[in-house]
Amino acid sequence: MAKTMGGAPPRTGLALLLLAAAAVLCAAAAVDKQNKSSWGGILWATAKDKDGDALHPNPTASSVEPVLDGADPDANTVGGVSDDDVDGEFAGGFSSLDGMLQWAIGHSDPAKLKEKASDVQHMSADELKTRQLEIKELMEKLKMPSDAELMQIAIGDLNNSSISLEDRQRALDELLILVEPIDNANDLDKLGGLVAVIRELNNSEAKIRTTSAWILGKASQNNPLVQNQVLSLGALNTLMKMVQSGCTEEAVKALYAISALVRNNGNGQAAFYAESGDVMLQDIMSNSSTDARLRKKAVFMVADLADCQLENPDHVKLPLFRSHIFLKSVVNLTLSSDIDLQEKALLAIRSLLQLSSTEATVFKDFCSLDEALEKMREQLENLMTVDKEGELAGDLEGLRREVYTIFHKKLETAYDLKMEGDIVHFLCEAGDLHGTIVFAAAEDIAADAHG
Ligand SMILES: *[C@@H]1O[C@H](CO)[C@@H](O)[C@H](O)[C@H]1NC(C)=O
Ligand SMILES: *[C@@H]1O[C@H](CO)[C@@H](O)[C@H](O)[C@H]1NC(C)=O
Ligand SMILES: *[C@@H]1O[C@H](CO)[C@@H](O)[C@H](O)[C@H]1NC(C)=O
Ligand SMILES: *[C@@H]1O[C@H](CO)[C@@H](O)[C@H](O)[C@H]1NC(C)=O
Ligand SMILES: *[C@@H]1O[C@H](CO)[C@@H](O)[C@H](O)[C@H]1NC(C)=O
Ligand SMILES: *[C@@H]1O[C@H](CO)[C@@H](O)[C@H](O)[C@H]1NC(C)=O
Repeated sequence: MAKTMGGAPPRTGLALLLLAAAAVLCAAAAVDKQNKSSWGGILWATAKDKDGDALHPNPTASSVEPVLDGADPDANTVGGVSDDDVDGEFAGGFSSLDGMLQWAIGHSDPAKLKEKASDVQHMSADELKTRQLEIKELMEKLKMPSDAELMQIAIGDLNNSSISLEDRQRALDELLILVEPIDNANDLDKLGGLVAVIRELNNSEAKIRTTSAWILGKASQNNPLVQNQVLSLGALNTLMKMVQSGCTEEAVKALYAISALVRNNGNGQAAFYAESGDVMLQDIMSNSSTDARLRKKAVFMVADLADCQLENPDHVKLPLFRSHIFLKSVVNLTLSSDIDLQEKALLAIRSLLQLSSTEATVFKDFCSLDEALEKMREQLENLMTVDKEGELAGDLEGLRREVYTIFHKKLETAYDLKMEGDIVHFLCEAGDLHGTIVFAAAEDIAADAHG
């Protein structure tokens, strides 16, 4: 399959056909009465081989000559035919007309589309009906390739070392769309796709590496099967190196993929920590010249890791939450000038405070959380007087107060525990003789301490 359909040209033809078909379904289509075969010429001119596989339906297809409606690429409205009706025409492959259109538009030659669009004439209602029937027939004749087949073609291209850079990029762009449905993501490894995509993380072109990381992130998102497959192929280490890239987009997509890989995944988190993931996050958070998107992703990931630990207290406790400097780098972000970053930092702090492995006194003494929260309160108070940002600032102030409350409860508990510890210590020193009297007094003190 991959061989007969391999390479770019046949798919360009298919894309044009799909787009053409969709365009005919639109209300304002027109006929080029002069030359019945011109559109067909465009459809099939670039096809490599004409001996009729699934992607090359017989030339009767050329009797349909749809014309674009002003080349509107967002042709979501399908005149006279509801989406449901159209869906019924496809045996496999794209599950919706929208998906098909999106794919087709991405694979079409803009110059040819433009040329075609310049021919537009409007059809009468009758002509439009005829066109619709014709296109229905065409759709029935045309066996649409399944997603699995499209993935196989793309992977075949990635496997082909002599393919051009553009074709490689296009194959990756296709996979990026194709891996979105979970069933497709689950098929990726079977087709050799994960190995092929992970290999591209090593490509010398940043854009190729970036798209590859993006695909891995998308495919692993909320998918433990793919997460574990990608982890066992050892991609985490490569992705973590990519986060250091001077190319922001590459770093952002690599961190996105890492987050998706370790989310709710104990193995992934253990591997992440073994690769010093905490240091990586800390470096991103504490470097103010790092791109803001990357910093937001990093602090978001901290909150996510902490939440995961709160939900699964039996998970290995990551030492990452015990490092004072790490916690300080999160608290520092509340002083950022980027309100979105501040919010994400607050969310992370809220989660971190709730972990039994973190100490309230560290937040107080080492991280100066009280001062940070107070500065933020002043800043938000000022913001709330400005109408435009009033609402956002109000929400953020609510979150800030919540963090303050959680923090001070944790502090009180910590002081209570310390006081009880001191009392026990004192009792031991006092010895047996006056033990009973001292004990009674100590109980009173402890009761006071508990309020
Ligand atoms: C139709 O158009 C095609 C391509 O534009 C051209 O090669 C062909 O000669 C035309 N046929 C007629 C009958 O005009
Ligand atoms: C791509 O190559 C891998 C081996 O590297 C192989 O397992 C897989 O079947 C190939 N896939 C396609 C579609 O060519
Ligand atoms: C690999 O790509 C080249 C260039 O596009 C093409 O000529 C060749 O047929 C492809 N090989 C396979 C096995 O598909
Ligand atoms: C990427 O390249 C490095 C060295 O350049 C190599 O060690 C590693 O195995 C390669 N990874 C993949 C997935 O090809
Ligand atoms: C901070 O980030 C900038 C830009 O990414 C980088 O050049 C610099 O080396 C980083 N500083 C530290 C201390 O890591
Ligand atoms: C936190 O911010 C202070 C003041 O800007 C700075 O001196 C300190 O190094 C920062 N700490 C971390 C861990 O980012």
